[in-house]
Amino acid sequence: MAQEVRGVIAPGKDEPVRVETIVVPDPGPGEAVVKIQACGVCHTDLHYKQGGINDEFPFLLGHEAAGVVESVGAGVTDVAPGDFVILNWRAVCGNCRACLRGRPWYCFNTHNAQQKMTLTDGTELSPALGIGAFAEKTLVAAGQCTKVDPSVAPQVAGLLGCGVMAGIGAAINTGNVGRGDTVAVIGCGGVGDAAIAGASLAGAAKVIAVDIDDRKLETARSMGATHTVNSRSTDPVDAIRELTGGFGADVVIEAVGRPETYRQAFYARDLAGTVVLVGVPTPEMKLELPLLDVFGRGGSLKSSWYGDCLPSRDFPMLIDLHLQGRLDLGAFVTETIELTDVEKAFERMHHGDVLRSVVVL
Ligand code: APR
Ligand code: ZN
Ligand code: ZN
Repeated sequence: MAQEVRGVIAPGKDEPVRVETIVVPDPGPGEAVVKIQACGVCHTDLHYKQGGINDEFPFLLGHEAAGVVESVGAGVTDVAPGDFVILNWRAVCGNCRACLRGRPWYCFNTHNAQQKMTLTDGTELSPALGIGAFAEKTLVAAGQCTKVDPSVAPQVAGLLGCGVMAGIGAAINTGNVGRGDTVAVIGCGGVGDAAIAGASLAGAAKVIAVDIDDRKLETARSMGATHTVNSRSTDPVDAIRELTGGFGADVVIEAVGRPETYRQAFYARDLAGTVVLVGVPTPEMKLELPLLDVFGRGGSLKSSWYGDCLPSRDFPMLIDLHLQGRLDLGAFVTETIELTDVEKAFERMHHGDVLRSVVVL
């Protein structure tokens, strides 16, 4: 039997979001219905609302979520009703060239639930990132559910579904930060702070935080930054070089998504260093670089998609580290809010007041 629950809808471009009744069908083959317990508010939800992702309104927002599997469809064996799970953006196929080469984050055949959730008048909803978790329940592909230790608080677990995983993964997966490395992180929002936490977890000797806002630099310190640079008043490339014996950092992580910070990241690395790009630029942004600098510097330039994470490997591991007190995921939760507060949370995000507001159900 399809069920009616409450969900946060973005009805049209730039219109305020609102809570509406949505219809969640029973899970079909390969699908699961998940009772959502917590869902973080991410910039991507705001981009959906602003029409910046696509124009397939109405959207069912929310995609950084954890909850309990309520029911599963035919053929689902990996998760069962009652399992505590973190949701990810898409189930991977396991069979394409990318999956077979051990890089499932590049999978060519990812999928979400086949069936659609709707409004009560039958209007089909587009779930944000194939999830739609600002809702009491949501329908996903079973492969989007990863079981983790249920003793973790849902508002903490859900964060791994997007921004925090993207940041930690940029450091430990894409950047492959190792013990003794020097790391610089440009941009210390939720993603950059997670990269800082990831770098210190991986044993970096120095973690240099760069931002234009002193408040952000203060938080960055609590996440594990050993040095901070305000790039409004100090040239960050010079500062990073100075702090690394003149060489530049072994790994530089860009977590803003702008041409000037891409440029800083490019020049702040050691000759053999790695630049990890996790900040997402807009389509019109361009960066001009002398080709001799591109050629003449070694190392590598990598982009990091979803922290190059493998949910089934990384989510349980990071939850375990959190439960052992070795990674403070709770520090990313600035406030917990209700479903009806999402619009207000977007405003606070816009003003840079929060790392994460998390809807708790
Ligand atoms: N130099 C340094 N820091 C900057 C600059 C700049 N020119 N411009 C902005 N910042 C800082 C902001 O002060 C803020 O602390 O970058 C940080 C951005 O943080 P958030 O807005 O909270 O964004 P976040 O959620 O961390 O995402 C960062 O990663 O995954 C991507 O799409 C995401 O592109 C976005 C980026
Ligand atoms: Zn695949
Ligand atoms: Zn997100």
